[in-house]
Amino acid sequence: MLIAQITDTHVRRKRDLLHHMIQTGRELRRCIEILNALVPQPDFVVATGDLVDRGKVKEYRRLRAILAKLRAPLYVLPGNHDDRDGFREAFVDHTYLPRTGPLCYTIETRPVRLVALDTTRGRKPGGELDAPRLLWLDMTLGQEPQVPTLVAMHHPPFDLGIAPLDAKPLRGREAFEEIVARHGQIVRIVCGHVHCAVERPFGGTVASTAPSTSQQLAFDVGVDGGYGLHIEAPGYALHRWTGTRLETSVERTAQTRRLRAIS
Ligand SMILES: [Fe+2]
Ligand SMILES: [Fe+2]
Repeated sequence: MLIAQITDTHVRRKRDLLHHMIQTGRELRRCIEILNALVPQPDFVVATGDLVDRGKVKEYRRLRAILAKLRAPLYVLPGNHDDRDGFREAFVDHTYLPRTGPLCYTIETRPVRLVALDTTRGRKPGGELDAPRLLWLDMTLGQEPQVPTLVAMHHPPFDLGIAPLDAKPLRGREAFEEIVARHGQIVRIVCGHVHCAVERPFGGTVASTAPSTSQQLAFDVGVDGGYGLHIEAPGYALHRWTGTRLETSVERTAQTRRLRAIS
């Protein structure tokens, strides 16, 4: 089973460049062309939030127009740059999304089941898993204890060493880890938000983040504790279920500049 993860697409209106230089819509289009050419095709694609940049209706319209080209089934969840109501409205035909409250849901795919968690707290940068969402997760995992499960969410439940991000951690992450540790079937927790690829052990499984399809953050502390921006090839993650474990490969959707060979 093959699962592709795209994240932090940050689509804006046409000609509205991110950081005055990044055409996020064009980058997503390129990523979709690459996904569409994969053989075999992914069983599904999960998009882990920040799908548009400013939560605007026109951005969602453009996002949907670009996503319409994707061949594989797509499941979406919001990030802090999304507007939950606007998101729900934009994906009204995605009937797995709840009509009220947080956009938490399950997709009963096999052999790996998808559990998606909405970690947003309005459009505040930091996320949260409050008591109702944690209760929902606990119950949902308890319903299928034998089925290998992929948990998808926007905010990673761990610090990264990037000071401005670590200053706004995911609320409820200790209780979340306790639930994850209690249910043994989670094969991976896949996240976005941080625009770089990191993984670490978490609650007896592995939690990982994927690169943005548009712009990356340096995995370090920037100048004066700010962000370090990388001009680096964007990408996505491919998760392959072998029957016993999940293997992940981080793919790049543009060429990385190479240095000339030194003779
Ligand atoms: Fe983002
Ligand atoms: Fe984010």
